[in-house]
Amino acid sequence: MKITRRVFIGTGAAMTTVAIAELGKSKPGLAQNGTINLYSSRHYDTDKALYDSFTKKTGLKVNLIEGKGDELIERIRSEGANSPADVFITVDAGRLWRAQEAGILQPVSSSTLESKIPDSVRSPENLWFGFSKRARVIMYNKDKVNPSALSTYEDLATDKWKGKILIRSSSNIYNQSLVASLIEAHGMSDAESWGKGFVSNFARPPEGNDTAQIKGVAAGIGDIGIANSYYLARLKKSNKTEDQAVAEKVGMFFPNQDERGTHINISGGGVVKTAPNKEAAIKFLEHLVSPEAQKIFSEGNNEYPVVADVSIPQVLTTFGEFKSDPVNVSVYGKLNAEAIQLMDRVSWK
Ligand SMILES: [Fe+2]
Repeated sequence: MKITRRVFIGTGAAMTTVAIAELGKSKPGLAQNGTINLYSSRHYDTDKALYDSFTKKTGLKVNLIEGKGDELIERIRSEGANSPADVFITVDAGRLWRAQEAGILQPVSSSTLESKIPDSVRSPENLWFGFSKRARVIMYNKDKVNPSALSTYEDLATDKWKGKILIRSSSNIYNQSLVASLIEAHGMSDAESWGKGFVSNFARPPEGNDTAQIKGVAAGIGDIGIANSYYLARLKKSNKTEDQAVAEKVGMFFPNQDERGTHINISGGGVVKTAPNKEAAIKFLEHLVSPEAQKIFSEGNNEYPVVADVSIPQVLTTFGEFKSDPVNVSVYGKLNAEAIQLMDRVSWK
């Protein structure tokens, strides 16, 4: 158990409060009140184990403030210099880029983070780091599609998929990042031609989230859908028999395996620019790349660990191994505005 004692030090008329953690492993001065403030858009029950393991290791507690990613960015921005936020965690490199552009993150120098997290899944300026990966894949109806007919994202713009593709709207950041990856791979002009063909193949105007696309594929509304890998894993693991029935009908295909690899994205985070407990915040990020935390972090949302040699969640082993597009995920942020404009021009609703 950790006991915190407050000591009042008089400096003339002013009184300063210093919290000294006496027992446990916490170090005086590492964090005010022995607590870090984590602003996170993750909301998985398993994350509690993540925080408990950090507390056990360091004696530091985690005070969790939850919200949607974009709302938390705005909250930290509006709190300004007085923000209690130490660490910000969210999903999609496109959104981490928004946090970077909003000026709420600071670069972190940590040999642990730099050696354990591959270059491609962290900001080149070390403003944010990926802690788990998700693949944006093709979900296909096993009764209607032979996977040998599937190949690349590029192929989805050809006539053979006319009226067969399900995908959510262009306002969704996962799709914006996917389109950004196509702009990066082919240039704007070719990516836009692809976009025109792709949109003309939609089975219906975009509606619903990634789960809705998978359910649509199972129901035969479209032959194939685009969704993040963990959505199918979640349905597979669901206690509801109707979810399991959906997952049973749908196969997962990793596109572009003979080329640059499948489009991946990250869950990630960084240290807030005004972090009152910077040193402890860095310790927390370093904890997230420990084998123990990598397992919990990736399992929380059925994602792939970023650190090599950490075993992947069991449910993902059934999908097999795949090659990832090695492009640095910060590109998705850099090209986000262009991706949105492209999607608008090709009438992707
Ligand atoms: Fe998601």
